[in-house]
Amino acid sequence: MEVHPGQRNTPSPSRSSSPSLCSPQKSPSTTFLEQDCFCVKENNMADISGQSDRGSGGIVISDDWPGYSLDLFSYPAHYSGDLNSVIIPHGVIMDRTERLARNIMDDLWDHDIVVLCVLKGGYQFCADLVDRIKDLSHNSTQTIAMRVHFIRLKSYLNDKSTEDLHIVGAEDLSFLAGKNVLIVEAIVGTGKTMKTLLKHVESFKPKLIKVAGLLVKRVPCNSACLPDYVGFEIPNRFVVGYALDYNEYFRDLNHICVISETGKKKYMI
Ligand code: HPA
Ligand code: MG
Repeated sequence: MEVHPGQRNTPSPSRSSSPSLCSPQKSPSTTFLEQDCFCVKENNMADISGQSDRGSGGIVISDDWPGYSLDLFSYPAHYSGDLNSVIIPHGVIMDRTERLARNIMDDLWDHDIVVLCVLKGGYQFCADLVDRIKDLSHNSTQTIAMRVHFIRLKSYLNDKSTEDLHIVGAEDLSFLAGKNVLIVEAIVGTGKTMKTLLKHVESFKPKLIKVAGLLVKRVPCNSACLPDYVGFEIPNRFVVGYALDYNEYFRDLNHICVISETGKKKYMI
């Protein structure tokens, strides 16, 4: 479980031990698991058999998934008209997070870890993931001692990624030397941000780095990184909620939703 500079730890059998920083994004197989209303497809057979989530790119939400009508859920009235649909309800996020916590526990239970929460978007996922790992540590011989540290990245203006990636509060991460680090990110888009962050973290010579990402966007970019633990693979659309923002709005929304054109205009800067 050691990581050497320039090499990510890759425990799952389906991941390559390529010396690159990131695993290339796998394209989903053609196996579909169409459920009554939550239209998902899984991208490997092992997931469908229910035996393992290892090496999975997460629950795949297909491009033609229209999402649930907002009328089926409750959400803050101040966002009325600003959203098109709910693509991942809060309860589903929580259930998937519980499973990711289980996978992390299985891999890292005898390690002390430093959780590196990537703000601002990652705060909710990180808090819930850490809570679930804590739950698993209680009344069990498997425990993970966790310290939590926060760094802040900023690269989006409106719904567009800017070239500038600012890492705020990451100046001195020298305390990571020799440590096991779990980076917790809400969303991985092009993967450029993740690559930059990984390079930065690796320069402080941690012993091991793992990445948990709640959402991975299907973007047509080969350089995309796949986190070690993925919640959902989603279409290449701008999503908000569960701490993901559009110009700082919508963090106070529990579900992951697609913003409407009205919403974009209303909060545009
Ligand atoms: N929503 C909010 N923040 C983001 C997104 C998104 O879809 N992609 C990258 N950062
Ligand atoms: Mg943002």
